[in-house]
Amino acid sequence: MELNKAPLFSSPRIVYSNFLHLRDPRETVKKIIDDLLSIPRTISSTLLYDDVGSKLFQQITRLPEYYLSRIESELIREFSQSCKNFLHNLDIIELGSGDCSKISIILDSIDPRNFHSICYLPVDISSQSLKESAEVLVAKYPEIRVHCIAADFLGDFFSLPHKRKRLFCFFGSTIGNFPSMQRVELLRRVSSQMESGDLFLLGVDMVKKVNDLEKAYNDHNNITASFNRNILNVVNSIIGSNFNPLLFEHHAHFNRDLCCIEMYLKAQKAMAISIPCIGSEILIDRLETIRTESSFKFTVDVISEDIKAAGLKIDLHRTDSSNWFSLFQLSKEAS
Ligand code: AVJ
Repeated sequence: MELNKAPLFSSPRIVYSNFLHLRDPRETVKKIIDDLLSIPRTISSTLLYDDVGSKLFQQITRLPEYYLSRIESELIREFSQSCKNFLHNLDIIELGSGDCSKISIILDSIDPRNFHSICYLPVDISSQSLKESAEVLVAKYPEIRVHCIAADFLGDFFSLPHKRKRLFCFFGSTIGNFPSMQRVELLRRVSSQMESGDLFLLGVDMVKKVNDLEKAYNDHNNITASFNRNILNVVNSIIGSNFNPLLFEHHAHFNRDLCCIEMYLKAQKAMAISIPCIGSEILIDRLETIRTESSFKFTVDVISEDIKAAGLKIDLHRTDSSNWFSLFQLSKEAS
């Protein structure tokens, strides 16, 4: 999943910065092994998004059960329509950009005469996703420039060019993958880059009936199951282990105490996983689980607290008629 040299792009309008290789690979390996040995066993959900996982997640966003993307897209459309005047002479920074579906909604509402004044800066850990979406965007929107940033937006320090007005985007309720302290840290990172006049769009999935939540993570076509199991291939490729993903069952359920969907893999039989770099094995019992993701669901109060703690303020709260998903328009609290 790491890429040490810049990919070749079809267009001089695409620039690429890579912050992934700044990491010490030994630390990545150690963290994965420590997590696997801890109780409960976990694998960081960041590892869901290698090139294959990013593709599977794109498929998830198009599933009828996965209401998050559908509703959020509608809310982004509303934003774009009502903020057309803001959308020129602008750097647009998107954290965890994935494919270009969300940003396209914004770019579609921009007057093509202003394209030359727009630079889009996607930040993602999948260099393949970055490359693909950059190529699609420069082809679709003449004159728009794309500056790809390969980085883990929580783990890596990365600097952004700063010349003019900016729109920050953090969509998909990806913020829900982090517990409160890290959420505030993440929001602070964005806030520290913001100046008055800049905007920040934050997409957040809200608490709703357990059954509606769980359906979104247990789709009929088992795409989410494949997405979940793929994390074991990613682990194998990084630490050289020999997990067989097919021996694990996908589970996702709502944890009422923590208010999050938890996704995990359940071993269908006892097994010994070899970890060559530590010269030993991990023994996994039948029905033992490995947690692969926590996806927090929010109330307005909870997310407002985090937003405030990061020195940001809510200018506008858009939501759908059932309050299933929220798009917050934030700006920096004057200091
Ligand atoms: C992109 C992290 C917000 O938690 O809903 C989708 C990832 N996991 N199906 C989410 C995911 C299972 C997604 N986030």
